[in-house]
Amino acid sequence: MTDKLIIFDTTLRDGEQSPGASMTRDEKLRIARQLERLRVDVIEAGFAASSNGDFEAVRAIADAIRESTVCSLARANDRDIGRAAEALKGAARARIHTFIATSELHMEKKLRMTRDQVFEQARLAVRFARNLCGDIEFSPEDGYRSDPDFLCRVIEAVIAEGATTINIPDTVGYAIPELYGQFILDLRRRIPNADKAVWSVHCHNDLGMAVANSLAGVMIGGARQVECTINGLGERAGNCSLEEVVMAVRTRRDYFGLEVGVDASQIVPASRMVSQTTGFVVQPNKAVVGANAFAHASGIHQDGVLKARDTYEIMRAEDVGWSANKIVLGKLSGRNAFKQRLQDLGVALESESDINAAFARFKDLADRKSEIFDEDIIALVGDDSVTHDQEHYRLLALSQHSAMGERPHARVAFAAGGVEQHADSDGNGPVDASLKAIESRVKSGAEMMLYSVNAITSGSTESQGEVTVRLQLGGRVVNGVGADPDIVVASAKAYLSALNKLHSNADRVAAQG
Ligand code: KIV
Ligand code: ZN
Repeated sequence: MTDKLIIFDTTLRDGEQSPGASMTRDEKLRIARQLERLRVDVIEAGFAASSNGDFEAVRAIADAIRESTVCSLARANDRDIGRAAEALKGAARARIHTFIATSELHMEKKLRMTRDQVFEQARLAVRFARNLCGDIEFSPEDGYRSDPDFLCRVIEAVIAEGATTINIPDTVGYAIPELYGQFILDLRRRIPNADKAVWSVHCHNDLGMAVANSLAGVMIGGARQVECTINGLGERAGNCSLEEVVMAVRTRRDYFGLEVGVDASQIVPASRMVSQTTGFVVQPNKAVVGANAFAHASGIHQDGVLKARDTYEIMRAEDVGWSANKIVLGKLSGRNAFKQRLQDLGVALESESDINAAFARFKDLADRKSEIFDEDIIALVGDDSVTHDQEHYRLLALSQHSAMGERPHARVAFAAGGVEQHADSDGNGPVDASLKAIESRVKSGAEMMLYSVNAITSGSTESQGEVTVRLQLGGRVVNGVGADPDIVVASAKAYLSALNKLHSNADRVAAQG
């Protein structure tokens, strides 16, 4: 047992499984670069066998990342494991993470397999994986609800086959901290070769205890790897939140006595990047990364903090990267300064023409907005019209008229597969009119599940509006994000971005399906 706590980030795999959070290869690559700057130990880049798109994303991340270990998920079969190994070929450090469900419920109802079949498949999968890669993680899915006797048998066998990390998922977020910690401790005590592997925790947040459960798994159970996501992104109520675990261990080093290698000053930039890319907005009162996390509004608190910060502050905002929110560029900034800033932000635009397109949009934005922040730049390069990423629809022009007491009307011009389209409509408000105009031409039939507007940078109405639109069509859920100082334009962009995602054929195999 070492006193280093391994931070395994699964934003790009388990986080991305959240309906609507799916990301393109370039978006994943950009986030992976930020995770590397954050210095997480392991980046779970995706599930290579789930789709060609995810295979390419894992491959691009494996090729680009040099410091963190890059990992791909794989079901416990040769095809999935082979695909993972293939995608990870270029990695400086590679890990294959293979899993199979071990709870009675999952084995009987989902896999329709007997215990012996699951045992054999787990063993053979790890043996096969170990011949392809030296770093193998095994997860018994729904592990926390599995029969401990059976779990001991499976885990002992996969360690004997060469698994180097054993992860115990609380797949459905059912655990209670003390019980989960004890569960892991019991397994470690009962399994004769337990000390040959690093033990890991993977908790979902259905009862709001993912962070507490993970920390109990570490302190009571002796786990030395935590699987987590930025902003706690993940299916249903999400996964264990990286920023909360890291800052708990850092702030209470007196209690945990553990080292984490993460550069905490990169936490807020990572949080912003993930939220802007996926359209999953961070709640203002979210620990560490919420807009109010360090805001002292009450007079008594303000007075105390002014006299001595530690009266009410247990962490410093700048230590987790809040000070990174600075004006970086303005309308006089040149192309080189812009290109440098993109590099600093980890944004790799593929061609000079992409950089030129981004720079043109930057200049356009700088004409309308005097202060350009990092968030503005991230939003700008996330725009489909810059990266041309899966871009079928593109906004060309929008005008609308609204006046008090009159029904608003909008005219929209957009490109669909390179062909210019014009549409107009009225609506309850200018946003409604604009989206109805687009839909009247596209006829997607998609149902809108969410529409939200946020200011990209806080504090002033000069900020760009960032709009998230979530659409559902035929069982697929996608998020589109659009940013512009004009929120009607931002809304149209977000709607078209969601339509672009629906338009792309991202057929996927569900990791836990
Ligand atoms: O929650 C879970 O069980 C998982 C596994 C695939 C590790 O995400
Ligand atoms: Zn999970």
